[in-house]
Amino acid sequence: MENDIQEILFSREEIYRRVSEIGAQITEDFKDKDPVFIGVLKGCFIFMADLMRCVNVKCSMDFMAVSSYRGTTSTGAVSINKDLSEPIEGRHIILVEDILDSGVTLNYLKNYLQVRKPASITIATLMDKPSRRKADIYADYSCFEVPDAFVVGYGLDYNQRYRNLPYIGVLKEEVYSK
Ligand code: IMP
Ligand code: MG
Repeated sequence: MENDIQEILFSREEIYRRVSEIGAQITEDFKDKDPVFIGVLKGCFIFMADLMRCVNVKCSMDFMAVSSYRGTTSTGAVSINKDLSEPIEGRHIILVEDILDSGVTLNYLKNYLQVRKPASITIATLMDKPSRRKADIYADYSCFEVPDAFVVGYGLDYNQRYRNLPYIGVLKEEVYSK
């Protein structure tokens, strides 16, 4: 598995340091707001688990599962595979994503959830690839800005593999051009 990685972008330690910083900011910004963290599966699962343990406010969490991606290119169409299990009307929402790429997924989700009248919607992403943005959407909290390369690890996959790598790395081009 590790042979398929061209370069490590962020080590386990670097990720932990940034996630702690973002967690501290959220703690300060959401004091007494009882936010609900909504993780976008599956890519969010490791980031969300680490982030939550760095947030020291009363809060709840829920998950959605969406698909918008095949291999390394977005299909552009978003479908909801799992919806929320709790109502969100009047709640402060923090959407937790692995990576904000074209922005199509989060833009769709934001509009989809807005209809349920939450008090606010905030976006927390592990990574941001601003050079590839197509939708008019930005991250309120982002741990890392990344160049236009396909990255895997720490929850992110290529065809459902590599999510368990403890670091974030660039996948060798030969792996997906095969
Ligand atoms: P967007 O709709 O183009 O912003 O894409 C969002 C989704 O595409 C993310 O939640 C990821 O699951 C996936 N994605 C985008 N870029 C990468 C990448 O470099 N590696 C792995 N998954 C990616
Ligand atoms: Mg993915």
